[in-house]
Amino acid sequence: MTTKEKSPIQIPSFITVRELSELMSVSPIDVIKELMSNGIMANINQEIDFDTAAIVAEEMGFEIVAEAEVAAAQEEQELLETQPEWRKVLAAEDRANLEPRPPIVTMLGHVDHGKTSLLDIIREANVQEGEVGGITQHIGAYQAVKNDQLITFLDTPGHEAFTAMRARGARSTDIAILVVAADDGVMPQTREAADHARAANVPIVVAMNKIDLPTANPNKVMQELAEIGLIPDEWDGDTMVIPVSAKEKLGIEDLLEGILLVAEDIQPTANPKASASGTVLEARVERGRGIMTTVLVQNGTLRQGDTLLVGEYYGRIKVMYDFRGNQVKVADPSTPVSVAGLSGMPEAGDQFRVVSSEKEARKMIADLQDEMRMQESVPRTKVSLDDFFSRLLEGESKTLNLIIKADVQGSLEPIITTLEKMGDENEEVSLDIILASTGNVTENDVNLASASDAVILGFNVQADPIARNAASSEQVEINTYNIIYKLFEDVERAMKGMLSPTYEDVIIGRAEVRQVFRIRGVGNIAGSFMRTGLAKRNAFIRVIRDKKLIYDGRVGSLKHLQENVREVRTGFEFGVSADNWDDYQPGDILEFYETRKVEQA
Ligand code: GTP
Ligand code: MG
Repeated sequence: MTTKEKSPIQIPSFITVRELSELMSVSPIDVIKELMSNGIMANINQEIDFDTAAIVAEEMGFEIVAEAEVAAAQEEQELLETQPEWRKVLAAEDRANLEPRPPIVTMLGHVDHGKTSLLDIIREANVQEGEVGGITQHIGAYQAVKNDQLITFLDTPGHEAFTAMRARGARSTDIAILVVAADDGVMPQTREAADHARAANVPIVVAMNKIDLPTANPNKVMQELAEIGLIPDEWDGDTMVIPVSAKEKLGIEDLLEGILLVAEDIQPTANPKASASGTVLEARVERGRGIMTTVLVQNGTLRQGDTLLVGEYYGRIKVMYDFRGNQVKVADPSTPVSVAGLSGMPEAGDQFRVVSSEKEARKMIADLQDEMRMQESVPRTKVSLDDFFSRLLEGESKTLNLIIKADVQGSLEPIITTLEKMGDENEEVSLDIILASTGNVTENDVNLASASDAVILGFNVQADPIARNAASSEQVEINTYNIIYKLFEDVERAMKGMLSPTYEDVIIGRAEVRQVFRIRGVGNIAGSFMRTGLAKRNAFIRVIRDKKLIYDGRVGSLKHLQENVREVRTGFEFGVSADNWDDYQPGDILEFYETRKVEQA
């Protein structure tokens, strides 16, 4: 093996001579000699810094890479992958085409803390009185002007049933205004909203509302904010906390100025010349108008007559209204508009885009449905949070068995305590924690879950590949979380029978096997053609023959013209092998997929 073929070695900021020699599989004496020839005297247990280690390793013929760099690249990749579609679209735009657009600001917070009232004051109108039961039922969208600058506002409901809408609101926005009532303080949905904003990497400005009330206690609220990681700037933290009163119209200008300050920092941009794309805020049937869809244009310019594609629905825009209800012909980036003409009701949070014609839209939908049909052929999990409640109703099971895995003991303990409490409080259902331990989900955990009919819950951990394989063959459900409340929420819903799935396999590409090559010492390689989407080295693969699932597992290797590659795009020929399986036949369909988190519906 020549040095070129070795994968680069990862070096941390500091490393001992011994560790470095182990990484390179060479004698520590050689490393010490090499150091000496560079004028550095070091013994075997001595720590050297990255730069020194890098010089030595390179001179000894190794390719090196900084551990910190690898971690940063991974983080960036992960961030990119979890971003909503519109952010990816913007990230893919040529910088030269980007122009400033109004910031999109979303009001988030606990029920009744005054989100809608604040918006009303800001836009000097009054929707609040017209709302059903005083609760905001949908994301309202408005625009206001401050210092000659346009700002787009989105309202969200604070009621606890509307988690999904808050999540979507946070994902659609540039800035989150966390509205906290000064008399009530940080409440469950305040916390949840803060989590959503953080998860979406969106800056948070706190509007401390209702300071007119005699019961207002700003200090206590700031304390509570600090406890959830939002340290007020007044306390040398970096969260702007602006005291306001919607009732007495206090602090509104400060709030707007705060928003503009943050906006200046993030400088939102978009390409007004691109074909339009963005997010659906709501859809409803209006008498005399049919299906009205409120969309937020996040890139490009939307025009009357454009053909929209949203999931499985499409249609030419017949008419378009701005937030005041006036008919308009164009909508620039960051503009919310209501449009008529879609063939069905999309869901809030769906991403839309403009396509060239209804014919193209139909073709794209047909392709999508094709893929979905393929997905249906895959057997579903038997033991899951989802079906627990129906089993309960059928008298099949009254105990929800759980296996808990967490990154550290410190997060494991509160999870156990809270779950135990939830179990105690529920009379119909008992919770049984069969195992709780730290570390990634392993094959052992899956076997245990399978034997005991348990669901695996992971917090800040992943399932290793062998565990995933085992889980799919044993039909064990693994749920992983980064937000602790989500974990509790899911268990709670499972006990009450309201769970919707939180994970889904997303198909990223489909290929067709054309020829099978036998390679000595390796096995069969499927010489394939990428029909749609892409194949990735770190994705999962399913092999489908005559509409039957033959294999489901991980991609082993991916080659293009004999070279190992990380991905293969539509229209290319490539070779692929799977982990521990190689019984391909020409004509097999290969489905590449990734497991992604879906927003709660
Ligand atoms: P949801 O949409 O249901 O989550 O509520 P919201 O956060 O939009 O609250 P909303 O604006 O509907 O206000 C809730 C109640 O608080 C109403 O009765 C308002 O009149 C009252 N309220 C809002 N702002 C203030 C304020 O600054 N001071 C006082 N005293 N009351 C306020
Ligand atoms: Mg409201």
